[in-house]
Amino acid sequence: MSNTATIHDLETAPTEITVDPVSIHIGAEIGGVDLAKPLSSKAVMEIRAALLKWKVIFFHDQNLSHEQHLDFSRQFGELTIGHAVFGNVEEHPEIYSIAKHRKANRYKTGGKMERPWTGWHADITAAINPPAASILRGVNIPPYGGDTQWTNLVAAYNGLSETLRGFIDGLRGVHRFEPAQGTESSEEYRELLRTKGQASEHPLVRVHPETGERALYVSPSFLKSVVGLAPRESEQLLHLLWEHAVRQDFTVRFRWKAGDIAFWDNRSTCHLAPSDIFQIDADRQLYRTTLVGDVPVGVDGKPSNSLQGEPILAYAAE
Ligand code: SIN
Repeated sequence: MSNTATIHDLETAPTEITVDPVSIHIGAEIGGVDLAKPLSSKAVMEIRAALLKWKVIFFHDQNLSHEQHLDFSRQFGELTIGHAVFGNVEEHPEIYSIAKHRKANRYKTGGKMERPWTGWHADITAAINPPAASILRGVNIPPYGGDTQWTNLVAAYNGLSETLRGFIDGLRGVHRFEPAQGTESSEEYRELLRTKGQASEHPLVRVHPETGERALYVSPSFLKSVVGLAPRESEQLLHLLWEHAVRQDFTVRFRWKAGDIAFWDNRSTCHLAPSDIFQIDADRQLYRTTLVGDVPVGVDGKPSNSLQGEPILAYAAE
């Protein structure tokens, strides 16, 4: 993201916006701004500082159009294509439709084993440069159900013992688009992954490029194995880290209303889309933009490396 706010900005009381935390470690509601209008540079700086501190921030009653969503997002960085693998809204290449029955959900044909961390992810960590942040806009919201949850991966890292932190600080993991173990998927999905799939080796502990904080960079839906460990060792370590990362006290749960916006730092959080919406008839429609991200760097200063696919660049009209 551009116009970097430093960790020191986080201590300055905001004057253009209000910031009301909603849990101890993660999530704050932002008030006092109309996102349909261009923001002052001070408001942009304060929103950015709130994002870095609280990891996910929520805005109510904004009711933005696609164009206003794009204009708001662009004040925080360059935008990617809607989704590098699953496409975009026709006429709006930088917007991804989070529809209840979107393609990404239809590809999974069954057999999923539910674990405490199932479905949790940071966006597109299979890419060499996963998006820095995502901005999700609620349009059709079910009368009940359909909440989204986020977890703070910096708090999760800090919550590990010093000994385990020391052990994982130098480790790296392989992230890829691949159906979860034991999950069935369609031939169409497997073909899509052959042509557009991505895979990268990232550090298990990422140093945040703006705050310098260390985040437990374990995105359960994408992270498949730990480099240099035997398969059983890798599986057991990842189960332990994932279970820890989604511990209730690191998380926040957001009850959507139409017109709301959730803006999260994709470098220091994972999130969980709701699965309860498939148990009622009500529709659910949200739209998402993502900001171009950089290549993660580990505690040892070593950047990630790409195993498959291209970096996700700023979208440029052809
Ligand atoms: C997402 O994973 O970006 C969507 C979250 C949601 O549907 O609540």
